[in-house]
Amino acid sequence: MLKRQFRAGVAGIGSAVPDRVMTNDDWAKLVDTSDEWIRARTGIAERRLCDDSTAASDLAYAAAQKALKQSGVAPAEIELIIVATTTPDYPVFPSTAALLQEKLGCARAGGFDLSAACSGFGYAFYTAAQFIENGECQKVLLICADTLSKNMDYTDRNVCVLFGDGAGAMVLARAAGAGGHLASVLGLRGSGAADLIVKTGGSREPLTAGNIQSRDKYIYMNGKSVFKFAVQIMGEATEQVLKKAGLKPEDIDLFVPHQANTRIIDAAMKRLSLPPEKVVVNIQKYGNTSSASIPLALDEACQDGRLQKGMLVAACGFGAGLSWAANLFRWGL
Ligand code: ACO
Repeated sequence: MLKRQFRAGVAGIGSAVPDRVMTNDDWAKLVDTSDEWIRARTGIAERRLCDDSTAASDLAYAAAQKALKQSGVAPAEIELIIVATTTPDYPVFPSTAALLQEKLGCARAGGFDLSAACSGFGYAFYTAAQFIENGECQKVLLICADTLSKNMDYTDRNVCVLFGDGAGAMVLARAAGAGGHLASVLGLRGSGAADLIVKTGGSREPLTAGNIQSRDKYIYMNGKSVFKFAVQIMGEATEQVLKKAGLKPEDIDLFVPHQANTRIIDAAMKRLSLPPEKVVVNIQKYGNTSSASIPLALDEACQDGRLQKGMLVAACGFGAGLSWAANLFRWGL
């Protein structure tokens, strides 16, 4: 168990997705694919994609406003803003957190962006919880926002059908009741870095007139390798986080996995012996929204009543890095 002075719980949650719906049939008009292939191989039926004028911070703002409203916490009470994103509004600076601090009116907040790809929620949640558990902060705003549609090659069927855009936000606060963070585990396997990569546009290979036309500015993914890694790590990391808290898979009330592929989720459910009613799956509507997928799913479960105060939630994400994160918490404060 964690050594900590205080406990950190979820005071409120919110999410936002773009209005534009892109169905599998819409993709089949652009690339050589079919609704049948995408549903059977991934579980995705449709996803939401941003228009040209919408950036990550716009979705983040909408999600954060809902989380603040649900928590009853005023923007001025927020002491720290953590934004998990790999698609910030600006590639170098300023941070997305800085843009949101101003837009939301979080007058006394510090903040930063955190880059952990599809594991972003788990890394940000654990980090946010630390600030509360050690007594540094009482109220932290955590936002996960990604617009991977802006980084994908619309002619690459291996990648483009998988992703959607979205944002999820949470207010974390000092918990006094039954709720709160119990344990987290984080991991990296950098040997798989090349399996999921955007090669140009960073300090290794900045965009130049010479490489701007190359497809290297888009997401490259070795789907088979990432799939094998994900099937192994989702079950393994969830078992590790349960062990850290002295709990067992049967203690989980709600499992909220990263929404990348229903076959990956099914493998984790089988390994953990979890029945479908304990697992949140909404990939059919949103595709893989990267860092936003877990808070989007949590918000949906909260809104439809599946998620109730005091319930034990296990969340597990994985993604580029290769990276992973698993968190265990009781819902509420
Ligand atoms: N439509 C039709 N055919 C397709 C499509 C498509 N959209 N995409 C690929 N194919 C083809 C391939 O070209 C291949 O054809 P070939 O045999 O002639 O070469 C065939 O389908 C089978 O390809 P596989 O790779 O064997 O398909 P697989 O069952 O592995 O499914 C998938 C592919 C869905 C990408 C799977 O590998 C997967 O989900 N991988 C993990 C992805 C993931 O979780 N990514 C996380 C990203 S997280 C982050 O941090 C960004």
